[in-house]
Amino acid sequence: MDIVLYPDPRLRAKNAPVTNFDAELEATTREMFKLMYSTKGVGLAAPQVGLNIRLMVYNPSGSEKKTDDEVVLCNPKIAWKSKVKEDGQEGCLSFLNICGQVTRPISIKVQAQGLNGEPVEVELEEWEARIFQHELDHLDGILFIDRMSPASKSLVKGDLEDMVQEYKDQLANS
Ligand code: CO
Repeated sequence: MDIVLYPDPRLRAKNAPVTNFDAELEATTREMFKLMYSTKGVGLAAPQVGLNIRLMVYNPSGSEKKTDDEVVLCNPKIAWKSKVKEDGQEGCLSFLNICGQVTRPISIKVQAQGLNGEPVEVELEEWEARIFQHELDHLDGILFIDRMSPASKSLVKGDLEDMVQEYKDQLANS
């Protein structure tokens, strides 16, 4: 399992609902957590590892030791979001070292299914709400650069162009 980097089309593809809540799904989430920790991330969505399904994992602490903080969500959706929004700095494992400011609702209510298919309803705030919304966007083919302020995006324009060139070079050499 490897991280899919921008602008790979798998990051923009449609993601199918998770329907099989089996041992394979659990093994996939373990592998995703492992990859997430090894790349110092706090969240990872399935399309970022080339699996176009509606699955995300995250751990707001980013610490492999804090397994109690690990969250696995299948087929998640936002049932409610606050009108109050907040600016925050985000990065993404599919964008290497690129960061930027993104505005998002500060609190949300989430409906999803857990690893065994059981219904999950949670209220998330601030940092965790931000992580969730970032990962949910991945499941809809939306990337954080799509939501960056124009000022933020102009700062990373060159880095994005480099990534596109790198991707084209790899395609040409493969
Ligand atoms: Co991301």
